[in-house]
Amino acid sequence: MKSKTDKIVITAALPYANGQIHIGHLLEYVQADVYSRFLKMMGKDALYICASDMHGTPIEINAKKAGIAPEKFVEKFWKEHQEDFSNFLIKFDNYYKTHSPENKELAEYFYNELKKKDLIYRKSISSLFCENCARNLPDRFVKGTCPNCTTLDQYGDICENCGSILKGVDLINPKCVECGRTPIQKDGEHYFFKLGNFAKDLKHWFTKEKTIQPEVKNWLQGWLDKGLEDWCVSRDEPYFGFEIPDSVAETGSKKYFYVWLDAPIGYISSTKNYCDKQIPKQDWKDYWYNGQVYHFIGKDIAYFHYLFWPAMLMGVGIPLPKLTTHGFITVNGEKMSKSRGTFFTAKDFLRLYSAESLRFYYSSHLDRKVIDVDINFEDFMAVNNNVLAANLGNYCYRVLTFAQKNYGQIEVVANHPEQEKLVMTLVDEIKNYYEQMDFKNAVKCILKVADLGNAYFQQAEVWKDKDSVESKAKVSFCVNLSKDLAILINPILPQFSEKVYTALNLKHVTWQMLNKKWKGTLKPVEMLVQKIESLPQSSTFPLKLVVGQIKEVRDHPNADSLYLLKVDLGSFGTRQVVAGLKKHLDKEILLNRKAVFCVNLKPAKLRGELSEAMVLAADDHESVAILDLEKSLVGDEVTFHGLQNSDKEVTFDDFQKLLIVVKGGNVYFDDKKLSSKVEDVKVIGVKEGTRIF
Ligand code: MSP
Ligand code: ZN
Repeated sequence: MKSKTDKIVITAALPYANGQIHIGHLLEYVQADVYSRFLKMMGKDALYICASDMHGTPIEINAKKAGIAPEKFVEKFWKEHQEDFSNFLIKFDNYYKTHSPENKELAEYFYNELKKKDLIYRKSISSLFCENCARNLPDRFVKGTCPNCTTLDQYGDICENCGSILKGVDLINPKCVECGRTPIQKDGEHYFFKLGNFAKDLKHWFTKEKTIQPEVKNWLQGWLDKGLEDWCVSRDEPYFGFEIPDSVAETGSKKYFYVWLDAPIGYISSTKNYCDKQIPKQDWKDYWYNGQVYHFIGKDIAYFHYLFWPAMLMGVGIPLPKLTTHGFITVNGEKMSKSRGTFFTAKDFLRLYSAESLRFYYSSHLDRKVIDVDINFEDFMAVNNNVLAANLGNYCYRVLTFAQKNYGQIEVVANHPEQEKLVMTLVDEIKNYYEQMDFKNAVKCILKVADLGNAYFQQAEVWKDKDSVESKAKVSFCVNLSKDLAILINPILPQFSEKVYTALNLKHVTWQMLNKKWKGTLKPVEMLVQKIESLPQSSTFPLKLVVGQIKEVRDHPNADSLYLLKVDLGSFGTRQVVAGLKKHLDKEILLNRKAVFCVNLKPAKLRGELSEAMVLAADDHESVAILDLEKSLVGDEVTFHGLQNSDKEVTFDDFQKLLIVVKGGNVYFDDKKLSSKVEDVKVIGVKEGTRIF
């Protein structure tokens, strides 16, 4: 029987359903996955719970840009993210959504409880309103200078530079992100949560709670010293989120829960959704009230998880979770960047390397310190080839293959009390390290076990006299060490481990099996680790190509064959483009079309009109076609497979030297296909081989 304290919930932060999963995110999902797999091996009733975070302004903005309803937009990422996670062997027990009936119900429950306890109140405040767009500008709808650290171009919710929680009205020189105009301030009533009331209890909690990392304790102390302001938990419409009950009656206008109110509640609603699906049905409260919850989060969302969330939980009387905070992923020592070619989505990474190579690299770097983890690709290759492949992989593969080929089965295992004692001491250490989430040292100790095995096998020189009873017993000892290694590394390398089990005909492997000697018939073992042959290529392509949408088409005042286009290029701004399309394409065909534009061409005046970007088109001397995109977002980059767009300015001459052609309805450069993040670029109605200019 499992006791109630064995009921454990492990969570990773709920990723926004607003873009692709990248290798930065994966650090956390791998970290929590390793911990969850370990606890399960220890026989705990551990659930790894996650969900898509589906609310808030960035999602609303991007759904709007993509021209689809937010409900549909988030659903697409909900599916896609699960594929990415599963490809990285991240095994959630439940991956739910915050835009769900369970989450709505629980958000309202929290709100009503807090309201009953007089922890929610209304207050009139100024907020920003754009008269041009006729809308309120919450959070990410406004940008300006951070009042704390004066960093330019920060959104109205949080400063990316200093991490402080902002209010739109505090921004210096605020601008509407949609139209760039300066908003006005409007007064209106909003709902506030009395965070200030919890200062003493929070202080008490983090002083006493031993598992809070020392770095985090320092931040917490700093935040408390500054004083806790009450937290505004409502947003005006339009907003993608849950409507606040009675808000129209109480404030005169519809209000929504701020995304950060219902997002952490998503941890609970995903647990509830899991429990409701079980036969017989289970109760989420067994986990949240009587079990133990562990949150894994990144340092950027610490404020929300160590102040707002515990205060909300205290407010409704749910026991507080334990938290682990990790630092950020950098690539080659710098923040990941698309233009430097160091931004890898989960999918990009898997085109080059295996999931387990990353899981192993991350685990070898993760202890419980809040430090950034750098992926230096040379180092990454060395860790994979010289440690994972050459030590652990090679040992297991060599021993299992030798035993299977020469003996086929094992009946007698040599006794080596001294070595066995050493292994058992290491096993205890490994267990402790896993328990403390110090995976870095767990890996170190696992490698010591493999070292021991390698040395033993080398010294035994069994190949000299392989048919003797002694040799066979010695190899059997080594096979048993492979079994142990497969158990010990299982939380980090589940696939590796599985392959070893399969060779040994083992099904459910538990920690207890470390104490049992394995005997039986061997099957051939599959290749365990792939060597990495090369570093990621970062060849660059000289143009910067992005998706733009044609917002206006006019005749050029001084030229018969030219149009003047006004093109929305997302973060690259709205630009005027002079295009020689007039003889071939009607205005109506062009209007609102998405196409590919080159944005790093030196701006030029064409017959007196400025052209600030160039539209790419195919001309086969009969017809002309522009390059089509449907699903991509305005401002998204389009690239030739494996090439990085350049940021440097180019001239029209440079451009003309590039041989870009149409093949099978797509666009190629040097046999590399042109595509955005979500789709291939298409060209319709021109002959094969037509050049693009
Ligand atoms: N939706 C919120 C979390 C809500 S939890 C109730 C969010 N989403 S996120 O998609 O932006 O980030 C998800 C997690 O990934 C966060 O913990 C964040 O810290 C982590 N990371 C995002 N980029 C990262 C790196 N480059 N490196 C390491 N972790 C990073 O925040
Ligand atoms: Zn700042």
